[in-house]
Amino acid sequence: MEFLRHLVVLIHLIGFAILFGAWVVELVNRKRGITRLMNWGLAIAGVAGLALAAPWGIEYDLNYAKIGTKLVILIVIGALLGIGAGRQRKTGTVPAAIFWLIGILTLTNAAIAVLWR
Ligand code: HEM
Repeated sequence: MEFLRHLVVLIHLIGFAILFGAWVVELVNRKRGITRLMNWGLAIAGVAGLALAAPWGIEYDLNYAKIGTKLVILIVIGALLGIGAGRQRKTGTVPAAIFWLIGILTLTNAAIAVLWR
């Protein structure tokens, strides 16, 4: 059970890596757009995160304030991806604030995961 949980944490981290990695690629190649990989990363991190939000395979209590905060941030990132993709379809570019917020909020969620104990 504990091994299975660690496996789901690994999948969660793969989702984070895909979302943040896809964002960094857009930053570095100066396109600053929204790509399908970002949606995939968010979906993988979200589904694995929800599975981890249930108390199985652990002997300590989960921090539900922390998990709830991460869920709210994930929903905001999802909304930004949707709004940004819509603007990208119509105008060809994503507003800078939306692009930057997606990366910053993704990093914020990783920081909350690691630093909030
Ligand atoms: C973009 C969104 C997210 C990012 C970047 C992210 C990032 C991370 C990272 C880096 C860890 C590993 C931390 C560690 O092991 O010390 C982690 C663990 C965890 N995440 Fe997320 N997360 C995201 C969304 C979510 C969501 C939406 C939920 C739940 C609703 C969630 C629930 C959890 C839980 C419960 C753990 C602890 C796993 C354990 O140690 O058993 N995460 N997350």
